[in-house]
Amino acid sequence: MFDVDTLVADCRAAQHESEPLRAIKEVLARAMSRPSEITDALGEPAMGGLRMLHHTPELTVINVIWAPGMVLRPHDHRMWAAIGVYGGQEDNTFFRRDPEKGLTTSGGKSLGEQDIVLLGDDTIHSVANPRTHEFTGAIHVYNGDFVNQPRSQWDPDSLEEQPHDMAVTIAAFDEANAAWKARQQAG
Ligand SMILES: [Fe+2]
Repeated sequence: MFDVDTLVADCRAAQHESEPLRAIKEVLARAMSRPSEITDALGEPAMGGLRMLHHTPELTVINVIWAPGMVLRPHDHRMWAAIGVYGGQEDNTFFRRDPEKGLTTSGGKSLGEQDIVLLGDDTIHSVANPRTHEFTGAIHVYNGDFVNQPRSQWDPDSLEEQPHDMAVTIAAFDEANAAWKARQQAG
């Protein structure tokens, strides 16, 4: 049975392995292999948002629910991370810094149910839920204090680098939830 305490304990153990990223990938793959157990434990995704499952200076584990059709602007984490999807789809676009344009696209990865992606310390990505009628459920694991780590976000239009502002991220979820509700009410 999936349970958050076991996941956190497994992530903590993986961090101390000689190859922590490989180990964390195995931990997440094991959890994602039984997606219905995750929805049993965490609930059926019904509202976009970030739910903190574990947060210490050493490790952050977040249940991320992407609202239908939502897009989150480019940002970095400045610590390695691993993402597992247990329902829906999460499309990642990767970027690298560009002295002239701010950022330039450097590939992408579309994650479906049970897929895992590993992100290095210096990864810059934007994230989208391309499915306009379905929530996406994911578990994101960060190798440190993701909440308090100073980091960057990029304006989605000008691609100008800015200090990361959690209020902007929360507003993106709020807007996507409101847009989803409005679409539903419009039938
Ligand atoms: Fe991210």
